[in-house]
Formats: sequence, C-alpha cells, structure tokens
Amino acid sequence: MRIKENILLILEENKGNPISGEEIAEKIGCTRAGVWKAIKQLQNDGYSIDAVSNKGYTLKVSGDILSESFISKKIEEAGYNLKVICEEKTDSTNEYAKRLSSEFQNDDLLIVSAEQTAGKGRKGRSFYSPSDTGVYFSLLLHPNCSPEEATNLTTLAVTAEAVALEKITGYKTEIKWVNDIRIRNKKISGILTEGSTSFEDGKMNYVVIGIGVNLYEPEAGFPEDIKDIAGAVFEDSVQRENIRNLVVSEIVIRLLDYYNSFNKRTYLKDYESRCFVIGKNVTIISSSHEAINDEEVFVLGIDKDCHLHVRHSDGHESFLSSGEISVRI
Ligand code: BTN
Repeated sequence: MRIKENILLILEENKGNPISGEEIAEKIGCTRAGVWKAIKQLQNDGYSIDAVSNKGYTLKVSGDILSESFISKKIEEAGYNLKVICEEKTDSTNEYAKRLSSEFQNDDLLIVSAEQTAGKGRKGRSFYSPSDTGVYFSLLLHPNCSPEEATNLTTLAVTAEAVALEKITGYKTEIKWVNDIRIRNKKISGILTEGSTSFEDGKMNYVVIGIGVNLYEPEAGFPEDIKDIAGAVFEDSVQRENIRNLVVSEIVIRLLDYYNSFNKRTYLKDYESRCFVIGKNVTIISSSHEAINDEEVFVLGIDKDCHLHVRHSDGHESFLSSGEISVRI
C-alpha cells in the first residue's frame, strides 16, 4: 500500500480528531515531509483535511448535505435558470418531477434526493437508491421535439455525466453502448428518461431525465442481483465534503450545455471518445438476452442517433438500434 493510502486509513481511524505528522510518520515508517506531501495530495483529491500546527492533521467529519442554494447558485453562474428542490428522501425523483409537471408547464425543474424508497430503473426494474452512498436526481425539461428525437436525450445525459464525473474526480469513464457509464469496469450509474407527448402535435409535452449515481459502495456491498455489475465512483468509503452538490450541479450544467445545441449533437464527439465498443468485435444480443446466432460483428462507429455502425462477417455493413439489441464484448 502506498503512503497516501496508509495515511488515509490512519486519518479515517481518527476521523474528527487531530493526529500529529510525527505520529503518522512513525506509524507508517516515513518522514514527516513525506506525510506532508501525501496530505497535500489527499487534499487535492478532495479530502477535507485540516492541518493545524502543534496539533496535526484532522480528517473532517464530512458535511455533505444537499443544498438547494449551492446547486442553484452553481447553475445560475453557468447561465441557466432552473428551480431546484432538494429532499432527504423521496419515492422516486422521476415520479416527483412528473407530479410537478403540470405546475411546471413552461419552466424547467430539478429534483434532487439523498435517498429513494421506490427508485425506478429501466424495463420496469427497481433502482437501488440507499442514503449515504449515492445521489439521485431528475431534470424536467421541455424540448420541442418528437418522441424519437427525445430518445437521444438519454445519450446526451450519459455523455454529460461521464464528462462531469471525469472533471470532478479525475477518473477515466467509459460508456458501454448504449447508455451505461463505467468506472473501473463497473456500472456506476443509471439513467431513466421518461416523458409525455401531446396528442395535438405529437411532440413532447415534457421530458424527465433521471440520473442515479453510486458514489460509494454500500457497507454491506451491493445487493446480490446487481453485485457483479454495479460499482461506485470512489474506491473507498471516505465521505467527500459537499460531493453530492458538486456532482449534481456539474452534471446538470454539462447536460444543459449539450441540450442548448441538441440539434447539432455536440455531445456525440465526447460520447464516441468514451464508447469503448468502437473498434472492437462484439457479439450481438437480442432484447431477450439471447446471442443472435452468436453473431460477432466489428463496430465501426455510431451515427447521429447513436445507432451502432457495424460490419458483419460477410462484409456487409448495417446500423443497429439499441431498442432491438445490446452487445457483449
Ligand atoms: C437503470 O439503469 O435501469 C436506470 C436507473 C435510473 C435511476 C434514476 S435515479 C433518479 C431517477 N429516479 C428514479 O426513480 N430513477 C431515476
């Protein structure tokens, strides 16, 4: 284990209480200068560590309470106007946003929660949403587009999240076509886009983009049914100061940046550069999760609607839609 990780463990054990540089140095067998250097790195990584002369270093008991004013201010500073509501607990932020959709027919809205009691996943599944280890939020938007067009908003949101998480944590993110974000090969987030269409013009009345981010692995691990695929943004469970507010605001700002130029698909370049199936052989899986005659295809790229451009073994090329298939590496 490196000095930095060793120091973090010691600080964790003494969380909220100071421990001198000398004592840390002695415990792990390095110099006080080495301790100081590693502490600086940890602070740069986002750990909230106080350094007080004659007392030592203290890993602060984290303050990571959701704050409407923090998130609103950040979003406002980026030039956007959005009503923000934060809750400690709700059933599902998507449901919450939909309940408020008639009140917010013209204005956009952001609902954030530290916990969901009935988090919804894709295909009618539930989404594991405990408190303390993640953050869950939904954005109610009013795009002037058809339902087909609106399906691209999920891809836009995935890209925004990947780029924002990289900016905050410095970790590399990967996108598994079509809409899964991975860090260290594990799915660290889920996105569910819902909406309502108008009978009059067939366009969207509103869209709700719901995002759940696993920041830390739960103490008892992820539930049995998802434990092989689910992961967390951070490798350890040291609570970062203000991280939920930061994650939500950075993702939302990036998402609104892309949304402003939705028709130009400015997010596609950032999507493509993270989509790790491009340039690889993959097996096509039908929606019933059966390999389609075990067909292996080579992925050439994606088109503007995020269809997968593939070359089949007989040389012909086609575009595959995520509604029909998924892929296995
Ligand atoms: C999936 O991977 O199946 C999609 C999961 C989407 C979860 C988010 S958490 C915030 C929002 N509220 C919900 O009830 N679901 C979405």
